[in-house]
Amino acid sequence: MAVETPAWYDSPFLKAARREPVERTPIWLMRQAGRYLPEYRALREKYSFLELCRNPELAAEITVSTVTRFGFDAAILFADLLPILEPMGFGLRFGPGEGPIIRNHLDRPKDVDRVQELTEDHLEELRFVFETIRLAREGLPKSIPLIGFAGAPFTLAAYAIEGGATRSFEKTKCFMLQDRGAWRELMGRMARSIARYVKRQMATGVQAIQIFDSWAGCLSPKHYQEFVLPYTQMVFEAIPADVPAIHFLTGNPMLLPLQARAGGTVMGIDWRIDIGDAWDMLGDRYAIQGNLDPAVLCGPEELVVHEARAILERVRGRPGHIFNLGHGVLPSTPVNNVALLVQTVHEWNPEQIG
Ligand code: CP3
Repeated sequence: MAVETPAWYDSPFLKAARREPVERTPIWLMRQAGRYLPEYRALREKYSFLELCRNPELAAEITVSTVTRFGFDAAILFADLLPILEPMGFGLRFGPGEGPIIRNHLDRPKDVDRVQELTEDHLEELRFVFETIRLAREGLPKSIPLIGFAGAPFTLAAYAIEGGATRSFEKTKCFMLQDRGAWRELMGRMARSIARYVKRQMATGVQAIQIFDSWAGCLSPKHYQEFVLPYTQMVFEAIPADVPAIHFLTGNPMLLPLQARAGGTVMGIDWRIDIGDAWDMLGDRYAIQGNLDPAVLCGPEELVVHEARAILERVRGRPGHIFNLGHGVLPSTPVNNVALLVQTVHEWNPEQIG
């Protein structure tokens, strides 16, 4: 009996990720389900952010309703980067207006001994994520792919060392440079844990994976190559070649060639580099996702249309563009500008001049 190809296989998002020609450029936005949405803020009056993440019915509902409301070409699992740290031996909370706070963070290199590498059994503690994937997949139209995600080893290690947000990454860098053995042990445990986590997400029903290395941009190319690249590579090696793997890194476009070498079939870039220049740097082996500055969505409508078209124009004729922002939607973004951006991207015709 012939196995039927699922409808999402030929979606613009997955076609672009495979660098096949598309009739229209696909668009989704990082943090598309978030605080800029009044219905999300209403939910947050009743539930904390982590309560939402741990409630598969609500988390799946947020994923699905956001996609149908705007007509995005892909859905992203509603979850967070950091809950994976809990079964690894850390405590996690989100203080009001403070961002994440990690209890038990790693003060000294020898604290690495208490970092629990995730086994299949530990993954049970994250079953709310897998249940959200199952329910979201069930609730989404078959034509819409669902993206799973995880943090990259460096970004998770940095949170585990800093205990929360930072500007200087002082603790992380000192840890990394003071005790290479402990750093390698920590990154190995992170990479193997993340690999198991994304494998389970794929087995549960996501069609693509995005790995967020939101903090790696603080590193020099030399340090990235030596202390980060081999571990990110371990994560991407766990993703089969036929599953689109988006490698998102922000803060330092000079890392782009190494980012590509570390793995992924789609490079996620921020706005600090012109998208055409990024393409020239990488050649045509990768799809590219990005890269409108999220702040543009706080500007007037004309600016939204103008800057979105400039990006589309810049990559005209190159298969493999997935439109996105250079980072997540900002909480103060007007909802109408998000709708306008989706419309602008969908109406743009790559065959037409001007
Ligand atoms: O819509 C989506 O993109 C899917 C859900 C998603 C969230 N976080 C929801 C969220 C995804 C993919 C993430 C990834 C994430 N989480 C990253 C990587 C991307 C990035 O922004 O660099 C990071 C670093 C985190 C950790 C995290 N979560 C931080 C630093 C914060 C606080 C900062 C902030 O914006 O408040 C969060 C909170 C968070 N994650 C919210 C949402 C919807 C807001 C929580 C709230 O309702 O208050």
